[in-house]
Amino acid sequence: MAKFIITGGQKLSGEIIVSGAKNAALKIIPAAILSPGTMTINNIPKIEDIEKSFQLLTTLGAKVIRHGSQAIVNTKNINKTELLAKLADKFRTSIMFVGPLLVRFGEAKFPHPGGCVIGAGSRPIDLFLEGFKLFGATVQEKNGKYYHIKAKKLRGANYFFSTISVTGTESLMMTACLILGKTVLRNCAMEPEIQALADYLNQQGAKITGAGTPTITIQGVKKLRAGIFNIIPDRIETGSFAIMAAAAQARVKIKKCNPDHISSLLTVFDKIGVHYEKGRNWLLMKPSPNIRSYDIKTHEYPGFPTDLQSPYVVLMTQAHGNSLIQETIYNRRLLWVDMFSQMGADIVMCDPHRVVVSGPTKLFSKHLISPDIRAGLALVIAALIAKGTTTIDNIYQIDRGYAELDKRLKKLGANIKRLN
Ligand code: EPU
Repeated sequence: MAKFIITGGQKLSGEIIVSGAKNAALKIIPAAILSPGTMTINNIPKIEDIEKSFQLLTTLGAKVIRHGSQAIVNTKNINKTELLAKLADKFRTSIMFVGPLLVRFGEAKFPHPGGCVIGAGSRPIDLFLEGFKLFGATVQEKNGKYYHIKAKKLRGANYFFSTISVTGTESLMMTACLILGKTVLRNCAMEPEIQALADYLNQQGAKITGAGTPTITIQGVKKLRAGIFNIIPDRIETGSFAIMAAAAQARVKIKKCNPDHISSLLTVFDKIGVHYEKGRNWLLMKPSPNIRSYDIKTHEYPGFPTDLQSPYVVLMTQAHGNSLIQETIYNRRLLWVDMFSQMGADIVMCDPHRVVVSGPTKLFSKHLISPDIRAGLALVIAALIAKGTTTIDNIYQIDRGYAELDKRLKKLGANIKRLN
């Protein structure tokens, strides 16, 4: 199992470049199935889930040519509608292939998707299935582990998301593009990745309005073209690097990012005394010696992202006072603090959704295991500011979200080694 060995307390400074957004890339790859034309995807981050996504597309019969961070994709010769189970059950966004297969070929067979264990049980897909059924598909299910979904003819429909879901919104939105008639999706997620996907599909002939708002209307069209998709900067990387710099009292310029996409975090920074400057595509973090505690509650976009909850908990251990952190999106996403407490953090868990962090506290090195992508990065930040040498095992979980993190952190002066 690969691990990071990190010796904390080094002075960090310099520049770090943000990658393309993982959660935009993971949707555009299956979206390629919607059109038999040739698509170009630029600014692809070099991470595991994306490689798996391209592999899955290839196993269906698509052609993918890679040149560094670019991919040329053609799905004209897709001849299978069954997702390879041993690949698809390893990552959550394999579910994103189902809608495009259903609308183009009339069926899809797939296993329950995998991914980080941060939600209730295995993360549910009921919203996707409800939507597909409303479009006119039938779903056969084997013990909640394997699904066969079919449709002779699909029709536009009105759907209300009982829970806000980013992937649910994107899945039904892209499927509805090729269903004749009108679809209205309500209580949609509003993340920038959804807007980026809708903009691309509209450039290819789709008729989507309202993406980025709670109500999205899609007027189906007969076919879509394929074109160029430039992946937007990863806002979670941007926010995580900003929190890392604040926690380490570092002067770091975060480049190729979009600060507008992390307004909720920057608003909190303004309240707690974290100093920064921003431009259109950069963020300059400055040393902030007196950080104050502040309560946050995670919320769907544009609220405070659940994906930044764990780095923020680390930051609050360095702030003066008590802060209440509430996780509202996932049931199991605060459990990582148990491991983090071993580093000396003063954290009281009120219940699985709420913790109180008291600071400032000194953190100490420990032997840790990364529980999931985001908590893994939070442990890296903690190790960077802790006294001594920390080992973080299972960094496969970190590599799934952040491309070549160790190389980028070394450039800032971090003492981080990867052991395979
Ligand atoms: N949910 C259901 N039924 C469903 C789908 C979701 O009840 O059919 C519930 C979940 O249990 C959860 C909520 O809806 O309570 C949202 O979960 P979902 O799995 O739908 O998350 P998502 O909105 O698709 C995306 C990101 C997450 C990020 C959230 C923020 C992708 C691939 N994933 O998930 O990213 O935390 O939005 O809301 O876009 C990550 O990158 O580490 C990550 C987990």
